[in-house]
Amino acid sequence: METLCLNSSETQIAAEILQRGGIVAVPTETVYGLAANAFDLQAIKKIFVAKGRPSDNPLIVHISDKDKIYEVVSSFPEKASYLAEKLWPGPLTMILPKNPRIPHSVTGGLDSVAVRLPAHFVIQEIIKKSGFPLVAPSANLSGSPSPTNFSHVFEDLNGRVDAILDAGECSIGLESTVISFLEDPPRLLRPGAITPQEIETLIGPIIIDDSVYSKLKPEEKVLSPGTKYKHYSPKAKVVILKGTSEKYAEFLNSLSSENIIALCFNQDIPLLKIPYISYGDSSNSSEQAKKLFSSLREADKFFPQIIYAHCCRNEGVGIAVYNRLVRAAGFKIIKL
Ligand code: TXA
Ligand code: MG
Repeated sequence: METLCLNSSETQIAAEILQRGGIVAVPTETVYGLAANAFDLQAIKKIFVAKGRPSDNPLIVHISDKDKIYEVVSSFPEKASYLAEKLWPGPLTMILPKNPRIPHSVTGGLDSVAVRLPAHFVIQEIIKKSGFPLVAPSANLSGSPSPTNFSHVFEDLNGRVDAILDAGECSIGLESTVISFLEDPPRLLRPGAITPQEIETLIGPIIIDDSVYSKLKPEEKVLSPGTKYKHYSPKAKVVILKGTSEKYAEFLNSLSSENIIALCFNQDIPLLKIPYISYGDSSNSSEQAKKLFSSLREADKFFPQIIYAHCCRNEGVGIAVYNRLVRAAGFKIIKL
């Protein structure tokens, strides 16, 4: 298939491709998404094929107008509606009972649906011009790091999708916060740029699902099917090192004859005697969020055997960075 490359003013062309049942990679403020008409069974099938995504991993439905939420859900509890009022448009996805019109192929057979109103004007414009909500999983091959710019999407999906729309770098760089309202208190299933603290300030206590910090045990019930698959992994093996800059550099410098690369903080650079890529300042979680996925892809270009990542702070937005990093590393952490 020939993939058309569009610029950010060509939203009408993107909308027309979607109306004809095509699939188009589009920017959002979090990561690029691979969009299709949420009511078109054939188009939805194409998304799973293009990404190589398991069919029981459900998709997020994106809307451009809060008032249209009942096209997607069958109920909208008070706490969810309050969060929507305060945090939409933005990087927040809510799990709610689904409207019968939403096909089960979107929800992986579940009776719930994930819904989000993204803040990026390009996807908002495309939804409005298409005239229907859009499913949009991250626009990467299943398992690889999510794409935060056009070239990441092109690398993974050129020849597999109808079009890719280029609107530069995503401002956040990690996928949205996912919170389920199928129970009360609500349950955080995936951390993102909107932090648990921010949510609790607005709606009171929430539960953080065990899968946010640790690997699920085989007998545990999977609430967010996405968490059971290998995720965010570059081609090289990733190992996390936890400790000070000095200990991190000392450990890596002693391995300098090996084919490795450091995924470090700016503060580590003067101490390192091996190849490195920095994913930001050690105290700036938002910067790390923005750079993590592109740094993992960049590190792969050196064809290292192992990427040694310096462990980030696990608080605020850092919870989301840590969550993606431990998954990329298959939960391998060495304490120095
Ligand atoms: O920021 C984002 O959310 C991006 C942009 C493109 O909007 N999208 C994204 O989609 O990250 P995806 O498909 O890569 O991740 C969706 C996550 C998966 O972990 C999936 O299992 C979960 O949301 N999910 C979707 N529907 C669900 C449901 N009904 N119940 C529980 N989890 C659900
Ligand atoms: Mg994804």
